[in-house]
Parts: sequence; structure tokens; C-alpha cells
Amino acid sequence: MNTDNTGNEDGNGWIYSERVKKHFFNPQNLLKEDPETYKADGVGYVGSPACGDMMKMWIKVDPITDTIKECKWRTFGCASAIASTSVLSEMVTENGGMELDKAMQLRPQDIVEKLAGLPDRKIHCSVLGDKALRAAINDYFRKSKQEHRIIKDKATVVCSCLNVTDHEIEEAVLEGKNSYEKIQEHTKAGTACGSCKPRIEKLIKQYKLQYFGD
Ligand code: FES
Repeated sequence: MNTDNTGNEDGNGWIYSERVKKHFFNPQNLLKEDPETYKADGVGYVGSPACGDMMKMWIKVDPITDTIKECKWRTFGCASAIASTSVLSEMVTENGGMELDKAMQLRPQDIVEKLAGLPDRKIHCSVLGDKALRAAINDYFRKSKQEHRIIKDKATVVCSCLNVTDHEIEEAVLEGKNSYEKIQEHTKAGTACGSCKPRIEKLIKQYKLQYFGD
């Protein structure tokens, strides 16, 4: 487990770090204004079919410095999603605001480190915030006529026999399916001709490194 958590997992104690608890009980930068009238420069919305969580994020940008001035959010999410997004919203607005290019490069692992860890099985909740942030920045690029800066996150079919994409494999790894056999069982990828096995194994390795550091 990738954490310094205290407590246990039998329901009698917390499995979260003190920092996660702090942000969960006192989330920062929640949007309190009416979303209909709040004037944002970019809005991002993501949902995770895996756990039913949803996240919406609103950003304000200083066009001169190209930095994030405000980062507000709302979610129907679990404790980890709330704490992760709270700390992310602080990270991108502290010290005068983060540059957009740098904010685009933030990884879930950066957020998890700031939270002093999350249980592995909750890492997938932490990706909601950074996905919503990237969507909000892309929306800002679109609205400010900077389309050339948009970073597209288009799914690619990895297993053509079963029509399984890299995004589905990414979601599965985030849910703990961390071997080729588990991916086969969960997504059915690789269960016909098997020629996609090397690509799937490479993706599993890449996502494990990206999200869990191993
Ligand atoms: S391409 Fe994946 S099983 Fe054939």
C-alpha cells in the first residue's frame, strides 16, 4: 500500500492519512456560487463509470501570465475523490497560480504524494480531479481560440478482436487488475487471437508505473 495511513480496513478505523482526513472534512475551493452565474474561463466535466463518481471543475485564468487564478469544483464522489480534488485545487492556485502547461502535466501520483498517500484501491478516485482539470484547461483553450494547445485524450483500440481500448485497460488497472490474466478476465481483451498480448502487457506496465509507481 502506497500510504502512511493509520487505522484498519475492517470498518472500525480510518484507512486514510491525516491530510486526506483534513481535506475531506474541510474541502478547499468547493464551488459555493450558483454554477449558472459563476463566470469561469474554462469548465471541465468527467464521470467514472467504474465507481459512479462525477466531477465538475471551473477555472479562471490570467491570460497575461497564463496561470490559473481560481479552481473551483463540485463532485458526487467518495472521500478520496473529495480530498484529492481539494488538494489539487490548492496546488494549482497557490503561489500566484500554476502555469497552464505545467498544470496539464500534473499526474495523479503528484496529488497522492501531497496527500501523504492513498490506499491503492482508491487511486482511481484521485484521477477524477486531474482529468476534470485537463478538460477545463482544454475548454479554456477552445474558448480563447488557442485550439493548437488542446491536448486530446483519444482512446485507441488495442485489441481489435474484442474492440477494447487503452482507456478501458487504464480503468481496469486503476481498479486493481494488474496482470494480463486479470485484464483478460475483466475486459476480454486478448481472449481471441492473442496477438495484442505484447501491447496489453506494455500498457499494464505503463499504467502501473504512472499510478502506483511500480
Ligand atoms: S487482437 Fe486481441 S485477441 Fe485478437
